[in-house]
Amino acid sequence: MALWGGRFSQGPDESVAALSRSVEFDWRLAPYDVRVNLAHLQGLELLGVLQSEEVEVVRNGLRQLFKEILSGAFSYNDQDEDVHSAIERGLVEKIGSVGGSIRTGRSRNDLVVTDFKLYLIDHLLEISQEVSALISALVTQAEANIDAVAPGFTHLQHAQPINFGHELAKHAHGFLRDLDRVGDWLERNSLSPFGASALAGSALVPEPELIAQELGFVGVMANSIDATSDRDFVGEALFVLATIGVHLSRLGEEFTLWNTSEFGWVEISDAFSTGSSIMPQKKNPDIAELARGKSGRLVGNLVTMLTVMKGLPYGYNRDLQEDKEPVFDSVETLLTLLPAVTGMVATAKFHRDRMASGVLDGHSLATEVADYLARKGVPFALAHEAAGSCVRKCEELGIGLHELDAESFAKIHPLLTSDLLGFLTAHGAISSRTSSLGTSIPSLQGQLAEVVRENASASRWISSERDRFSGMMNQ
Ligand code: ARG
Repeated sequence: MALWGGRFSQGPDESVAALSRSVEFDWRLAPYDVRVNLAHLQGLELLGVLQSEEVEVVRNGLRQLFKEILSGAFSYNDQDEDVHSAIERGLVEKIGSVGGSIRTGRSRNDLVVTDFKLYLIDHLLEISQEVSALISALVTQAEANIDAVAPGFTHLQHAQPINFGHELAKHAHGFLRDLDRVGDWLERNSLSPFGASALAGSALVPEPELIAQELGFVGVMANSIDATSDRDFVGEALFVLATIGVHLSRLGEEFTLWNTSEFGWVEISDAFSTGSSIMPQKKNPDIAELARGKSGRLVGNLVTMLTVMKGLPYGYNRDLQEDKEPVFDSVETLLTLLPAVTGMVATAKFHRDRMASGVLDGHSLATEVADYLARKGVPFALAHEAAGSCVRKCEELGIGLHELDAESFAKIHPLLTSDLLGFLTAHGAISSRTSSLGTSIPSLQGQLAEVVRENASASRWISSERDRFSGMMNQ
């Protein structure tokens, strides 16, 4: 059903209908659209444009429609242009022409942006809950591997020994910041655009504040032209989602690498691996690879949105219809990806022997030698030089730094006395890094306790917002 047509002598060409039609994708907004219409109805009642019996009829019609949308009993048809027209058609089919009064005073321009904000609030919260579950899985694995020793990398070269729990836990911090970003987003984007109508504000929406409150917003946007034209909240949401995607991608890359026969650090459970159609022996880390690969579309969706907005004149322009598919794609991609990645992390088995066996390769204790001299008062530049000479000596001899004897150390620098050898172990290196952010076991225990605390508090606000929001939706 078209919501316009009075001034047209003929209907749109088939090609135009196909181009213009958005209902196949914007149907996802249907429950939110009904919700906004229900809130709007209260305003119409206040205004007195509908008699109270009519209001009751429309309200019951909308409530019925809400149930039928959720159950799938009501959906769009071939003629519907968008979600708003499909819902108005459904309402009129149910209760007759009084259903058309729901359009009084509002425009699709403020309706669509209000629906979309509600959709995003709902789905960012759902995604946050999944991110919080992933953080818990990472913490559990980090705790289980708190005493595993592994080489830590810079430039993908052995750098210094680390506690492997520390390596796993680092991912949790990025995801915690993602939750923080969602909290931020919510705080900044909880003003309602409804009441802006087409662009100038409505003469027939008496109390936008009331409607905002009814929908769970904390207030109303200040300027009606901004309210219909602003999509900052969409760009920001896509940035948050793309950043989650980038974090998943980096985690996926590590699991893929650790799963190679060359590393052999992790065994991904069968339930989170896939096989090859030709090579019967293959067990591939496809979940980790998809975590890496899906970031492409998540970043692309952000770029799509910013590009649509750049240079766009204010007031509603149809270009704005292009805001939805990137969001639906990012949301649905993450809701599919996150549980699989959490499952992969939670069920992974780590091979400590393999990690530990290479920990001293690449003279990874050279910093310990330099630190040892620095502690004895040698300026670090000179200490660094001396430790470098030790490495060169080992290269000549074809041995590791930890295998050099006391005599050779002393020859390179007189302060490299024999007690140095006691410090030259991976455990020594790890346990000396005792500052709050370091890799020693007590440091990591402190870090993990803080992650658990922050994740629990995030999980509490996410659940309470979700409860509040679903309460609003079901009123
Ligand atoms: N389907 C449109 C959108 O998604 C909303 C309709 C506004 N259309 C209009 N011609 N003013 O943005």
